[in-house]
Amino acid sequence: MSTVSVKDVAQHAGVSVGTVSNVMNHPAKVAPATVKKVQRAIEALGFVRNDAARQLRDGHSKTVGLVVLDVRNPFFTDVARGAETRAGKEGLSIILGNSDEDPSRELAYLDLFEQQRSHGVLISPIGEITPRLTALRDRGIPAVLVDRASPDRSFSSVTVDDVAGGRMAVKHLIAEGRTRIVFVGGPLSIHQVADRLEGARLAVREHDDVTLEVIDLESLSVIAGRKAGASIAARTERPDAVFAANDLVAMGVLQALMLQGSDVRVPEDIALIGYDDIDFASAAVVPLSSIRQPAGMIGHTALEILLEEVEAPDMAARHVVFQPELVVRRSTSASAIDSM
Ligand code: RIB
Repeated sequence: MSTVSVKDVAQHAGVSVGTVSNVMNHPAKVAPATVKKVQRAIEALGFVRNDAARQLRDGHSKTVGLVVLDVRNPFFTDVARGAETRAGKEGLSIILGNSDEDPSRELAYLDLFEQQRSHGVLISPIGEITPRLTALRDRGIPAVLVDRASPDRSFSSVTVDDVAGGRMAVKHLIAEGRTRIVFVGGPLSIHQVADRLEGARLAVREHDDVTLEVIDLESLSVIAGRKAGASIAARTERPDAVFAANDLVAMGVLQALMLQGSDVRVPEDIALIGYDDIDFASAAVVPLSSIRQPAGMIGHTALEILLEEVEAPDMAARHVVFQPELVVRRSTSASAIDSM
């Protein structure tokens, strides 16, 4: 335990104890030169803050819990990065939890963040957790939903209009002359996936000559996409387009079509579009068309709303909905100039 106190640091730096506390807890509020002066004093004296004592006094740790559905999915690491960038400006840190699309793991992380007295929680929910989040909020830990709104909209949320995104993806395939479309995605218990399928159905409904088949998956993974792609390649009567519920699934489908379906050409025989526009999409062997979600902005905005709710716990729930964006690359349009 450090024997050096905050008071010693203040004297050494020639500032007040309150300034030292601000440098440690709200660095954005202190002049950069003063921050540097205090940091030099902390290093010179070897001061180590006593977080447990501060937590008892302040009632919260300097952490924000973030629970995502699948930490392997670059979409969520981009969301985490956006949240972390905003959190860092307040001297807060993000603790990332992976529910792995398992409701029991999701609840275990919420228990952990309560025990940690987290500043707040950001969560992309898999289960119905409104009662659990309400209990957290009653104990002074607000929550903001990421990428999905709660059924009763009682918690603030930052989402993307996935119905519009699904409709956009299929309208693009239809505009490219495709008429036998397969939606590959699941489980449909994930609201984001169900909304994308609903959007796809809305687009197909506008065209009598277009059909839509659904291949339901157990998970939104490359492996699940690969299995679906192999089943499509093995068919004698194949679809002429695939809409994958996210880019990981699309990468799996692409790999299977290229390997199993030796006579299959993408996009000439089968056009393929994904969702999220993760970095790997543009780097795929056939650059992947996708529906872009502003993942970093989603994380940044969710953290911003959380900070407001920490300051004003009784504020009304806010719902920010971003619009998705179509990114056309060679997997749907052979003439596309591959955008990054
Ligand atoms: O995790 C499921 C999907 O929902 C992710 O790929 C991302 O698109 C999120 O919106």
